[in-house]
Amino acid sequence: MHFVSFTPILLLQLTFPAVLHGAKWTYNGLDGEQHWSKHYPYCGGTFQSPIDIKSELLRFDPTLRPIEVQNYNLSPNEQLTLGNNGHSVQISLPSKMYISGLPHRYTAAQLHFHWGSSSRPEGSEHRVNSKQYAAEMHVVHFNSDKYPNMSMAVDKSDGLAVLGVLIEIGEFNPAFEQFLKFINGIKYRDQRVQVSGFNIRALLPARLDEYYRYDGSLTTPPCYPSVLWTLFRNHVTISHKQFLALATTLYSSHAQDSAPVPLNDNYRKPQHTDSRAVLVSFKEGKGLHGILTVTSPLTRKRIVQQLLVGDLADLADEGLYQLLPGGTEKLHAGKKKDLKNQKSETLAKYNQATLNPSLWKKSQANRSVGKLGLAEDALCYGSLEQRVFHQLKQSHTENQLVQALRDSIFPELNLRSYLDCKSDLALPAIRHILRGRPPTDEAFELDRSLTKALMIQRKTSTAIKKSVPVTNYGSLTPATVPRKPHSQGYPHPWLLPMEWED
Ligand SMILES: *[C@@H]1O[C@H](CO)[C@@H](O)[C@H](O)[C@H]1NC(C)=O
Ligand SMILES: *[C@@H]1O[C@H](CO)[C@@H](O)[C@H](O)[C@H]1NC(C)=O
Ligand SMILES: [Zn+2]
Repeated sequence: MHFVSFTPILLLQLTFPAVLHGAKWTYNGLDGEQHWSKHYPYCGGTFQSPIDIKSELLRFDPTLRPIEVQNYNLSPNEQLTLGNNGHSVQISLPSKMYISGLPHRYTAAQLHFHWGSSSRPEGSEHRVNSKQYAAEMHVVHFNSDKYPNMSMAVDKSDGLAVLGVLIEIGEFNPAFEQFLKFINGIKYRDQRVQVSGFNIRALLPARLDEYYRYDGSLTTPPCYPSVLWTLFRNHVTISHKQFLALATTLYSSHAQDSAPVPLNDNYRKPQHTDSRAVLVSFKEGKGLHGILTVTSPLTRKRIVQQLLVGDLADLADEGLYQLLPGGTEKLHAGKKKDLKNQKSETLAKYNQATLNPSLWKKSQANRSVGKLGLAEDALCYGSLEQRVFHQLKQSHTENQLVQALRDSIFPELNLRSYLDCKSDLALPAIRHILRGRPPTDEAFELDRSLTKALMIQRKTSTAIKKSVPVTNYGSLTPATVPRKPHSQGYPHPWLLPMEWED
């Protein structure tokens, strides 16, 4: 996902604290991706894209319907702008194009590409089981039910939906030729030409029913985690010659610059999964995710409400196992009975909701159990950033901006994903959320169950690992459970070292 318009100054003024806006960024060197978060803190934050979509992250979700694109077949009478913005080649799209079938209407804005180089034709952003494709196309849409334009949507948690298409070198692709034939006209940064409309649908794979779905971000600064990602399972092909046109024609420098800088390898590296799961619309033979299923939206909602402020005893009873991978149901059997006794007392305590001093918890303090408000209100990253920045400035800890933002949006994004059924709550995320709860017996009990479940998941993964590519358990390692205590004054069970009992 690439979000650079041809009027970046206007956009950045709308979305950034003055001190942060407008910084130059590139794919390597001193302004390369490892330095993006200096000026664009969300790039160092949570829920970033792209990711390496590994088998153990996948969960089959039978409620994921085929993607439906509307008005994608453009007439040759319509003029599209093909441009080089210094980071990618981009085609503007008319607002009559949209995706239907998602919770909101998402109106198309532009499409663009990421690619490798002639010497290394591997430049997709997303990877599937660590395989990097030659290139990747992103068709960017914004939530036009809630926002008037792209600028207003770009920093909202429900703002964008992007269709990702993996591109491999193979057969010649006539649809891609519709714009590649004009690419010599936009060799340099900020150059653009008008091209005739064509069938944008033909750029997508034949099957729109098989895809990966997860919550992520823009893959370029400002990296807002505002994207509902759909990555199609099936790739498309372009010929080697077509790939070379993309990879060797363009420059990221202006025509008048004395030292031309080639525009290639414009992809971001895979990001941490941050306890996310990836939903899949298709069932793949004997893959691990074949045995993982997601709970129904209503069940999930109820479970999350319990996680936040409800009765942990009930959750330990019946709710928790529904979050766990198949085969772990017996975990909770035989436990829990005596927990119920304390439940009304603890429930009253939870409802005071004064447990966690983080920004997020403060913002939740007024919300009742019945309506969490999470699904309705979008997070606005721009103003959150300004608020955190302001607070940190007063306490002279500016360098903690990235971490503070990370802490404040992580739980909410996890919950939001869960409630919106976009992706699933992974076990470490549940632990994270539960850290805000008081250290009661139920809390200890639940933590024990989670620890066991994590352990079992690990073993299962290890067993399966022998037949799938090497994995790094990013989201399952204790190290990734955030280390800073949010609660003050008492030791919290979630912060104690995990006991690997069995
Ligand atoms: C987007 O919409 C907002 C609110 O209506 C408006 O102020 C802004 O000028 C618009 N931006 C663009 C680029 O059209
Ligand atoms: C919380 O609720 C009280 C009363 O219901 C209201 O006066 C106050 O403005 C609310 N605070 C926030 C932050 O919404
Ligand atoms: Zn992109």
